Amino acid sequence: METEIVKVDKLNPDRNIIERAGRIIRNGGLVAFPTETVYGLGGNGLDDSAADKIFAAKGRPQDNPLILHISSMEELFPLIEFVPPNAEKLMKKFWPGPLTLIFKRSKKISDKITGGLSTVAIRMPNHPVASMLIKESAVPIAAPSANTSGRPSPTEAKHVIEDLSGKIDMIIDGGSTEIGVESTVLDISGEIPTILRPGGITWEDLTTVFPRVDYDQSIIKDNENIVPKSPGQKYKHYAPKAEMIVFTGRTEDIVSKINEYKNMYIAQGKNVGIMATSETEEKYSGKVITVGSRNKKSTIAKNLFKALRDFDNIKVDIILAEGVDTEGIGRAIMNRMKKACGGRIERV
Ligand code: TXA
Ligand code: MG
Repeated sequence: METEIVKVDKLNPDRNIIERAGRIIRNGGLVAFPTETVYGLGGNGLDDSAADKIFAAKGRPQDNPLILHISSMEELFPLIEFVPPNAEKLMKKFWPGPLTLIFKRSKKISDKITGGLSTVAIRMPNHPVASMLIKESAVPIAAPSANTSGRPSPTEAKHVIEDLSGKIDMIIDGGSTEIGVESTVLDISGEIPTILRPGGITWEDLTTVFPRVDYDQSIIKDNENIVPKSPGQKYKHYAPKAEMIVFTGRTEDIVSKINEYKNMYIAQGKNVGIMATSETEEKYSGKVITVGSRNKKSTIAKNLFKALRDFDNIKVDIILAEGVDTEGIGRAIMNRMKKACGGRIERV
C-alpha cells in the first residue's frame, strides 16, 4: 500500500486535509497523527476490522488493549458504563491532556479494543490536529503509539515513516511532539485510583485531586513475578537495537562509572554510545547524545525516544545511559528507560 504523507501546521491545521483523513478513518483505514505525547496510529474505534489492521500494522499482541481517543465530553458517555464519582474532578482538571482513564466499558465496545477486559481506556488528547481529526472522523479513534511493537514510540513523523510506511493509508506530519512520553494510564474503576503506566501527568499532579493515589506494584517493585495490571506493561518495550545499561545514583558517580564501563567495552572492541545530559556532556567523549537537562526533566522526557532511535542510526553495540531521580516526570522517564534496557539498571 502507498502511504500518503502530509504536512500540516500544528496550531492551525488545514481543514481539507484533516477532513480527508477523517474520511479515511470513518471508512476503516488507518491514519497516524500527532498528539501532545507521541504520534498515534488511528483507526475507527467502533470497527473491528480497523482494530485488526492496527494490530497487524504494528505487529502488536492481540491481548494488549487500545486507548479510545475522544474530543469532547459528550463522546465519553456512550463508551462507558458509568462515570465513577472520582472521575469528574480528574477530567475537569486534566482533560484534554496526557491522562488516560480506565472505565467499565459499555456494550458498544468490542473485545477487539479491550483485549477481552471488562474495562476500556479513554483519553482526550490536547493537540489541535488530534482534536480536529477526532471531530472530523465522527467516531472515537482507537490509537496506540504509531511504532512497530517493541520499538521506541514515535515523537516525529520521521519515526512513524521508519516503522509504518507502506502499511497504513496516511501519516499526518505535525512536527515533533511536546511531552515525548505517553499518557499516564490511571485505573479509576476500583476504590483507590491506581497508576498502571506513569506518563505525562505525574503522581504529584494526581495527588492534588486525591489524597491517595497508588502505583501498580509492577511499576515500583523490581520483582519480575508481579504481573502488571496493564497488559502493555508486561512486554519488553521501547527497545533500541543495541544493548543498554542505565546508571542511577549521584551524578558524579554516574559519570565516573559510565567512563569506566566505556573504557572496558572499547577494550573489548565494542562500539559504545553514551546518553548524557547537558550538565555532564563535557565529561564524556566519543558517540555522545545529550538527551536533555537534569534540571529540567521534561526536556529528557521530550527527547528520550528520539535519542534511542538516533543510537540505532549511528549503530552502536551498547548504550550507557544516565538515569534520573523518580520525582515528577522522572518516574515515567525511568519506567521507559527500564524497559529499554530490559531491567539492566545499576545503582552506583
Ligand atoms: O499517550 C498515549 O497514551 C499514546 C497516544 C497516541 O495517545 N497512546 C499510547 O497507546 O501510548 P498504547 O497502545 O501504545 O498504550 C496503551 C497502554 C497499554 O499499556 C495498554 O495495555 C494500556 O494502555 N491499556 C489500554 N486499555 C487498558 C485497559 N482497559 N486496562 C488496562 N490497561 C489498558
Ligand atoms: Mg505503545
